[in-house]
Amino acid sequence: MSDIDLSVNIGKFKLRNPIMLASGTVGYGNEISEFSDLNKLGAIVTKSLSLKPRKGNPPQRIVETPSGMLNAIGLANVGVDIFLKEKIPFLKKYDVPLVCNIAASTVEEYVECTRILDSEETIKAFEINVSCPNVKDGGLQFGNDIKAVGLVISKVRAVTNKPLIIKLSPNVSYISEFAQVVKNEGGDAVSAINTLVGTAFNIITKKPKLYNVNGGLSGPAIKPVALAKVLEISRKVDIPIIGIGGIMNWKDVIEFMIAGASAIQIGTLNFIDPTAPERMIKELEDYCVSNQLNKISDLTASYLI
Ligand SMILES: Cc1cc2nc3c(=O)[nH]c(=O)nc-3n(C[C@H](O)[C@H](O)[C@H](O)COP(=O)(O)O)c2cc1C
Repeated sequence: MSDIDLSVNIGKFKLRNPIMLASGTVGYGNEISEFSDLNKLGAIVTKSLSLKPRKGNPPQRIVETPSGMLNAIGLANVGVDIFLKEKIPFLKKYDVPLVCNIAASTVEEYVECTRILDSEETIKAFEINVSCPNVKDGGLQFGNDIKAVGLVISKVRAVTNKPLIIKLSPNVSYISEFAQVVKNEGGDAVSAINTLVGTAFNIITKKPKLYNVNGGLSGPAIKPVALAKVLEISRKVDIPIIGIGGIMNWKDVIEFMIAGASAIQIGTLNFIDPTAPERMIKELEDYCVSNQLNKISDLTASYLI
């Protein structure tokens, strides 16, 4: 046992270590629990939850790409009521902070989902997925519209005192402007990044490989983009950042922290090696020992020093 302190604070949200599992890659925790001791992780984030159950897109929903994958799942999920009745009892058995990720088609739906989930004490924080079409405003994604993001945060903030994390889209010119709005409207932290828009074609059928045509690109291919977005936010806005994008090993975690992340999330890697996140905790500890670091949180934004 070393006395390295691996704990991190994301504003008022305290984690035992910086390793979180990303939304959409571990279901509701149950899917990963056979491979990993959930109690060791920093936190887990649920698949995006909507007010009503959603079937998502027809197949093909996933395509492999060089150093990554495209997904167009279409936010398939059980909805908040079934989540509370059928998924929470399993999660209650674990001592791991649970973050509920919320997706919606209107501002009112974000608010209603948060309000319904807020009274469940197992849920320790909310992560708002703004990479969803705003049906009342021409279908433009909330996450691409700075006013819409501001409105979602201020309205959701009014119905919860739990830590409120906004998951930012990288498909914008200046992500830091969105992070600034999150701070102005009372959000506690941002997570960066969600997937990049991408597509792929079958050269024989000449048809898109994904039913939805476009999908979200994730995996190692996006890591440099994600790091640059984290760095931009860290330089411009004083708000805790959760780094996400292409994290494949403990070295990537360190890089994200140096660039400004307080914690990180692991997504695509869970499909390749679901035992990796737990292993990384020990590897981070070893890095701290060999680099004379007593507290891993000292790494956050250390590029500035
Ligand atoms: C199959 C799949 C499903 C996803 N579903 C969601 C989702 O429901 N909500 C969300 O906010 N992000 C979702 N994401 C995005 C991830 O949480 C993460 O932001 C992204 O994949 C980048 O991290 P990575 O490169 O480590 O995978 C999904 C990603 C994948 C690969």
